[in-house]
Formats: sequence, structure tokens, C-alpha cells
Amino acid sequence: MIRDLTDDQARAALPLKWDVEPGVIPAWVAEMDFRLAEPIEEALVRAIRRGAVGYPPHHDGVGTAFAGFADRHWAWEMPAEASVPAGGVMSGIRLALEALCPPGSVVVPQPCYPPFRDVVAVTGRGLVTVDLDPDAEAATMDLDAIESAFAAGARTFLLSNPHNPLGRVWTREELEALAGVAARHGVRVVSDEIHAPLTLPGATFTPYLTVDETAVAVTSPSKTFNMPGVHGAQLVILDPELRARAAALPIPAQNSWSSLGVVAGEVAWRDCDAWLAALVDRLADNRALLADLLAAHLPKARMRPLEATYLAWLDLRAYGVADPAAAALRHGLRPAPGSDYQPGLDGHLRLNLATNATRLSEGVRRLAAALSSADA
Ligand SMILES: Cc1ncc(COP(=O)(O)O)c(C=O)c1O
Repeated sequence: MIRDLTDDQARAALPLKWDVEPGVIPAWVAEMDFRLAEPIEEALVRAIRRGAVGYPPHHDGVGTAFAGFADRHWAWEMPAEASVPAGGVMSGIRLALEALCPPGSVVVPQPCYPPFRDVVAVTGRGLVTVDLDPDAEAATMDLDAIESAFAAGARTFLLSNPHNPLGRVWTREELEALAGVAARHGVRVVSDEIHAPLTLPGATFTPYLTVDETAVAVTSPSKTFNMPGVHGAQLVILDPELRARAAALPIPAQNSWSSLGVVAGEVAWRDCDAWLAALVDRLADNRALLADLLAAHLPKARMRPLEATYLAWLDLRAYGVADPAAAALRHGLRPAPGSDYQPGLDGHLRLNLATNATRLSEGVRRLAAALSSADA
């Protein structure tokens, strides 16, 4: 069911990720070297054939489909009308910060997806980072540091649930503890849940809104179903007053969403469970393969337990190379440097494992060659 893309197909389908020198294996951008799920591909082709590229309607097809998905996958009963369309997840987060969060600084756990820092700057807010310790087995949130930031005036918390780049799935207890601290200080939590359906066997995803109904969740089928270019995301808001505020925003303050994103989103949330199950199996296989490859070729590497996403976080400090991603690129593999996620953090990188076994195996061999070579 999961159809692998050849190099030529991947270059055509994923032009940003594959914009690398010929022969280089791209493992940086969060896209998968797999073809679209068939139901989505067919729905998009049908939509194009009927010329359905006018302004999308403000109907709740995506919201209804998402409510069904949430119920089937997370036993979360939520109303279809809770979903408010947004263009992308990052523009949805920008909208949430601008229109739905109290004034004051924004707390962001680090390392973080780099646009988390950017969106805080773009909205003119102050940024308070709180370090997650990637070396600790659990990479837990430091609630004392978070509470100090709230006590000092921060009023928004930007959560990646599950966490990119550390691949952590927060437990319900952790999220409840965060919600308790946020409630004490009148803090709004914005929870980015784009990676939630990519929770891997062994972990259980908890929608943040099930522990804090005042939050704003932002999600999209784009990461799970490998279609960020169709541009269809959602704010999920349970509080009716807050939702009315979002819905009433004037057009220039909203993020227009794409008609093709609506078509693809509805099908993805409603008709692709079998494809998603096959994908999660494949990603779990790749997780195991990567662990074996590291044990064989890079025994001093430490991979964070990957509970969700297809983005492995590797600590390579034992090899004594400050920028292992740059060294890897010189040897034909392009991962993402750890310092993108935490400025100043040496010796780490993020490796995208959503590819075929040949590329993954060869990628690890190239990384090993890079770290053992004199020009590292
Ligand atoms: C945590 C997280 N949020 C948001 C995005 C991007 O979402 P969008 O393209 O819808 O803005 C990504 C992409 O990798 C991500 O990892």
C-alpha cells in the first residue's frame, strides 16, 4: 500500500527536499519518499478535472472528517464545528498568536522546529526558551522553569505535541501538569498536533484539548499524508467564544485556505485509515532498521527513543565532530543540523527515515564514513 518513489519520481514530487546535488541522499525536510495515498490522489485528480479551484466554501466537511478521525484513533469525541480552516499550520499558529492569545512573551521548549522561534518574532512577541534535556531518557519539560517564565509575564505556551525534533509523545500526566501551571497564570497553550497521527507503536498520543479546553490546537493532514503543498490546515477550538473570535476575523487577518487542501483534507481524515496503518508499520520497521544500522556502523551514536514522527534525533558528540550534518553532506547525505533546532548545539542532527531501506542504509554508511574521515 505504501508506494516508494524512485529518485526521479521523488525529485518531481518533492522538489524542495530533493533540491540536492545528484547522488546526494536528502534526509532533511520533513517529507516522505512515498507516493500519495491512492484515495487522496484520485480525489485531487477528480477535483482538477472538474475545475474545482474556485474559492473553497466555508463548509464543515473537513471538520466532520477530522471529528471522525479523532474519535476512531484517539477515542476523542469532539464537535465537527470545532475546526476552523487555516492555510498551513505555521500560519494558523501565527493567527492564534495574533488574535487568540493574551499579550506577553511566548514560551517555547527547545530544541524546537525553527519556525516556532520565527513565528514568535514575526508576531512581535518576546521569546522565552526553556531547554528540554535531550540527554535525559524522557526529555521532560522543566515545569519549574516554565512556571518562572509565566510568573515573569509570559502568557502563551507553544507546544509541539508530539515533539519535533525529539520525537517525544507527551504523556497525559505531563500535559495535565502543564495545563495546571498554565491555568494558574492565565496562559493560553497553542498545541501544534501536526505529527499526532504519526505516533508509533509503543506510545499513546493525548490530544492537548482533552486536558485543557481553553487551548488552541493547530493540525493538518499534510505531514501524515505527505502533501504540504496542498495547504489545508485547521485550528481546533473547543471554547465557543474563542471560536467565534477566530471565525469573525476579517479576511486579511485570516489565512486563506486552498480548495484542493479542503478536498484532500476531507478524504485524508475520512478514507485513509488503512493507508495510515501501513505507513505506521513501515515507519516502525524503519525505526528498527535505523537502530540496527547505527549499532553496526555508528555504535557511539545515541538515538532518542522515537515515539512519533519519522525524524530521528541523533547525538553524535562521541565522535567529536562539531557539525556532523556538514560532514555528512560532504559524503553524500543531507540531514538537518541540530543547531537549526537549538542554536549553538553541536554534535547533533535530525535524520529523516521515511525513505526506502536502500537509501536509509546507504545514508547511515555515508554518515559513518563522514564521522571517521580526516576531513570531518
Ligand atoms: C511541528 C511542525 N509544525 C508545523 C510544520 C509545518 O506545517 P505547515 O507546512 O502546515 O506550516 C512542521 C513541518 O515539518 C512541523 O514539524
